[in-house]
Amino acid sequence: MNQATVISLVNMKGGVGKTTVAVNLATYLARDHQKKVLILDLDPQTNASLSLMPEKAWLRWVEEHGSMADVFELDAKRKHDEPVKFADCIVHEVVPGVAGLDLLPGHLRLTFLDLDLASRPGRERILTRKLAKVIEDYDVILCDCPPNLQTATQNALYASDWFLVPMQPDFLSSIGLSLLLDRLAYLKTELEFKIKCLGVVFTRVRHVGFHQETMERLPEEKEFKKLHFFKTVIPENIALGEAPMSAQPIALYDGSAPGAEAFRELAAEVAARLGG
Ligand SMILES: Nc1ncnc2c1ncn2[C@@H]1O[C@H](COP(=O)(O)OP(=O)(O)OP(=O)(O)O)[C@@H](O)[C@H]1O
Ligand SMILES: [Mg+2]
Repeated sequence: MNQATVISLVNMKGGVGKTTVAVNLATYLARDHQKKVLILDLDPQTNASLSLMPEKAWLRWVEEHGSMADVFELDAKRKHDEPVKFADCIVHEVVPGVAGLDLLPGHLRLTFLDLDLASRPGRERILTRKLAKVIEDYDVILCDCPPNLQTATQNALYASDWFLVPMQPDFLSSIGLSLLLDRLAYLKTELEFKIKCLGVVFTRVRHVGFHQETMERLPEEKEFKKLHFFKTVIPENIALGEAPMSAQPIALYDGSAPGAEAFRELAAEVAARLGG
């Protein structure tokens, strides 16, 4: 039986492009590689959801069907009801024109996840348990994580085969990469999960000396030598920043933009790395 490959997009740094990578990598894996893809929006900021759905449609969906907050059973209103079913929260074919791309939307209520689950035993394994019901329906599941390593991200990591690190190539981000790998190693031991690094993808890359220098230097550093660095880099590109306003991935918003070309190449690299 087919079982999805689960990938978490992680970086403790905010605004580095995790969500942009999640949305656009998912789109090209579905469109160009005929993968059945599910995005899980684990971030209370709901950026992945609002990059793929108009706000009104998202609001209607989460009210009528549910969101990631219901998966974690955070809604006090529904406490005495039957728990919402994971599969019922999924928006199928979330973007008209992109076959095979589904989304389980996020919700602002996820801000309370850490507090609400503080005393729940096995709180970092909830997602893994619930995901089991749909894991055979997909080829790839991408978890868009918030910029921290708390309960939502721990749930994603526990459920994942791989983690993928989008990072900007600058000095402070390279220190951040070191801290991130350190914390992930700690969580891996403490929570006893098996996860491997799919790779690091440089994002928001500009033609400035220190970006180019960092991209050359990092793969050579002893600490990072064993890491995979994707050949494709994602340039800073206005169209990538604009596309979420129209609730469209770059492939539909402007398929000829440099950012679109980069994501097409990144998807090919990721598909090859996952074994076709
Ligand atoms: N390559 C790019 N070129 C131009 N704008 C970009 C690019 N990547 C991301 N952006 C824009 O920068 C902002 C931050 O990107 P994004 O939301 O993907 O980062 P993030 O790491 O998910 O942030 P957070 O940590 O808050 O979840 C967004 O407004 C996004 O549209
Ligand atoms: Mg994000």
